[in-house]
Amino acid sequence: MRIDIITVLPEILESPFNHSIIKRAREKGLAEIHLHNLRDFSEDKHRRVDDYSFSKGAGMVMAIQPIEKAIETLKKERNYDEIIFTTPDAQLFNQKEANKLSLKQNIIILCGHYKGVDQRIRDHYITKEISIGDYVLTGGELAAAIITDSIIRLLPGVLSDETSALSDSFQDNLLSPPVYTRPAEYKGIKVPDVLLSGNDKLIDDWKHEQSVERTKKLRPDLYKKKYLGED
Ligand code: 6GU
Repeated sequence: MRIDIITVLPEILESPFNHSIIKRAREKGLAEIHLHNLRDFSEDKHRRVDDYSFSKGAGMVMAIQPIEKAIETLKKERNYDEIIFTTPDAQLFNQKEANKLSLKQNIIILCGHYKGVDQRIRDHYITKEISIGDYVLTGGELAAAIITDSIIRLLPGVLSDETSALSDSFQDNLLSPPVYTRPAEYKGIKVPDVLLSGNDKLIDDWKHEQSVERTKKLRPDLYKKKYLGED
């Protein structure tokens, strides 16, 4: 899988993709991530990528020229399955969407900035718009990092069996159960007795019960979806 990220701030995205699991996935050749500085595609003599909005008081808007050129340059090299725009005025990202995107071959992510992009970009080039939550960030870079991370960890071979994405919170609309490690007692604080019972069936039942209870308490919306068929 290959992800091309178009951004005015490639520096912000260097670190998240150069450590730990994502770094190893790249080294193993399971994922390619390429960062492109939008300014490199600007035909303006000052390498500008934004301009004033036609409507008064709306702030600066990302201009069509550099973005069109960046996307067309990439499209000449290969076909893209999705061209994603990160922006708070879009549908919310979730695990189901991450699963879907992890099955794609080539993806472009355009990071939003300023007061948005010229709507013609969204109308003619973007195939999917994603927000990562109901709050506003200074730019789409951190959103792009989050989306990319969530996709890459799902690719076959990226996680070990033990940390397999199959047991993630949200894969089945349930939150994860609590986990414990040694010692069994620390300064008088004990792990639940059942975990020391050695009875796998009992432990599995307990974990499931804990998952359901946690979901009901912390995410009643997920609980209703799962058990009451509400959406
Ligand atoms: Cl994708 N971009 C920005 N700027 N803010 C956000 C967001 C994206 N998702 C949630 N808030």
